[in-house]
Amino acid sequence: MITPSTIEQIKNRLDIIDVVGEFVKLKKRGTNYLGNCPFHNEKTPSFTVSPTKELYKCFGCGKSGNTITFVMEHEKISYVDALRWLAARYNIEIEETQVSEQQKQQFQIADSLFVINSFATKFFDNQLFNTEDGQAIGMSYLKERGFREEILKKFQIGYNPQSRDTLAKALISNQFNKELLPRTGLVTVRNETELVDNYRGRIIFPIHNISGKVIGFGARVIGKAINAPKYINTPENELYVKSRILYGSYFARTAIDKQDECLLVEGYTDVVSLHQAGIENVVASGGTSLTIDQLKLVKKYTNNLTIIYDGDSAGVKAALRGLDMALEEGLNVRLVLIPDNEDPDSYVNRVGATAFQQFIKDNKKDFIIFQLEVMLKDAGNDINQKNILVNHVAETISKINKAEDFIKQQAYIKQCAAILKIDEGGLINLVNKLKRDKVVKDEKKTTAAEISYQNEADQYPPEQQEEQTLFISPDEKHERNILRVLLEYGLNPYDETQSIADHIFSEIKPFPFESPEMIKVLEMYRSQYEQGLRPSTKSFLYTEDQTIRDLVINITLFPYELSSNWDKMYEGKTITKVDTMDNDILMSVNYYKLKKLKKMFDQNQADMEVASFDNQLLLLRIHIELKEVEREITKKLGTVILK
Ligand code: UTP
Ligand code: MN
Repeated sequence: MITPSTIEQIKNRLDIIDVVGEFVKLKKRGTNYLGNCPFHNEKTPSFTVSPTKELYKCFGCGKSGNTITFVMEHEKISYVDALRWLAARYNIEIEETQVSEQQKQQFQIADSLFVINSFATKFFDNQLFNTEDGQAIGMSYLKERGFREEILKKFQIGYNPQSRDTLAKALISNQFNKELLPRTGLVTVRNETELVDNYRGRIIFPIHNISGKVIGFGARVIGKAINAPKYINTPENELYVKSRILYGSYFARTAIDKQDECLLVEGYTDVVSLHQAGIENVVASGGTSLTIDQLKLVKKYTNNLTIIYDGDSAGVKAALRGLDMALEEGLNVRLVLIPDNEDPDSYVNRVGATAFQQFIKDNKKDFIIFQLEVMLKDAGNDINQKNILVNHVAETISKINKAEDFIKQQAYIKQCAAILKIDEGGLINLVNKLKRDKVVKDEKKTTAAEISYQNEADQYPPEQQEEQTLFISPDEKHERNILRVLLEYGLNPYDETQSIADHIFSEIKPFPFESPEMIKVLEMYRSQYEQGLRPSTKSFLYTEDQTIRDLVINITLFPYELSSNWDKMYEGKTITKVDTMDNDILMSVNYYKLKKLKKMFDQNQADMEVASFDNQLLLLRIHIELKEVEREITKKLGTVILK
């Protein structure tokens, strides 16, 4: 922890013009400074910095903040790291409050590993460029593969000689801590005391963290791997945590930011070759499934992830496995497969950058659709397989759960239902069911195969399940349903004289809403409607009131559970599926009224028990009237009630 007095000192020394000016060319305009916004692309400057207020604001994209937030946003670092960054810039010594002994030790180890890695990187680099062995073996192999010197330099690619302990000796003579050395993976202990090189006769790819420090290495055999693994990688240690690394992220970050897209490939050489071809927004996964930390790293820079894999590789399956997480993170994932046993490295070398980019553009396929088509092909005519597939797709789509992605989800449902040739309503229902399941038992992940999806007749999940997953009382449910129908159809004409909204308002007039939130939404709707503003779901999504937003989102997200969830039985009669707007409105309004009537009956009953004889007579009359209204309603409903 940085002490408060250090933070104070940093704040006192800050000069916003100086800090922002390091990244943005600023021109004085009156009391302020003006430049091109670093957070979005623009040609005419709208990024304004006020030295007196110590603030910046972009009038183009709306980003604003102070010096510290500027460093955080621009460098994509945390608050604490921004403070460190600023302290280093102004030569302020950081005082820290106590850290635990163990933490301290870990920091020390990490620091030492950085130093060793940095030494080794230079050593390998020197071996490649300045030794006979390096030139004859390492460089000639790399040249043959088409890598040019400047790209090798940029990525600090090097060579470890074949002899037993050249690096080990250099490390020892430079007095690095012998105990620590094996942790780097660069050397191993032989015969208890002797240190020997681990990456003998291999090309070395240093792996940089996001700020450019070397945290590990990938070491490739020269030529074909016969008796040894193709790559040897750094073992997990204080610096190298595989699940958090994307190779090339340091070199790609500005390009990803600018192009608002991150290309993901499998291998080190794919990254380097694409860079050499001028395609710089690219990182590599190392061929394993993507982890949540890696996806978060991507998400810092862009929402658009394009995976470019070799079509035959096992990596495709591995990559697909992690991707539901990407959807949960709100990433747009697209996939391109490189045909004919090629990978991005060989492909870009063969066809060149322009053709490569064109190929990506033309063949980019949405991940969900891609996955669906692959599985559909695999399933063939097998009904069972196809059922599993439908569930799988629903599961994937249900992972898109950010409210702002609602439209995206709807589009997927439409597309997938069409590809699968199934009823869209059925798919919506299944997706909603999965969403609710997730809400209810978030920790228990339901696998696709476990859910049985039989046929259309089974679309509506059993009532019991519905009840348990809805956290709302039956009363509220009916009020919600009125709101749903209003939002969905309100603006359509009901007959020559009135709209559906008018009709609903007059129908429910004797039966007012009770839930305060629903009343709010209803009244907001009414007032917008009366002002001629054509209220819709959208007009509620940007209101300041979070509960209203959530409520409307919920109503929009789960329309089916409302409509399919009237009490399915009423007086022994089963309700059929509602399939037209007219029926939907008829049923929604009348079941709502029945619900309210029932409440009135109950109230009446309770009153009756304590009432005087005169009053009892009065209540009895009310009871009879209510019964009459009820009969009318059920008669109306009769048209859509089966026996
Ligand atoms: P590839 O086999 O596709 O290697 O593995 P590559 O990077 O394209 O290398 P070249 O083009 O054949 O030289 C993809 C990635 O999987 C990891 C590495 O990160 C590699 O870049 N990998 C592969 C290993 O970690 N170990 C291995 O033995 C093989
Ligand atoms: Mn390759």
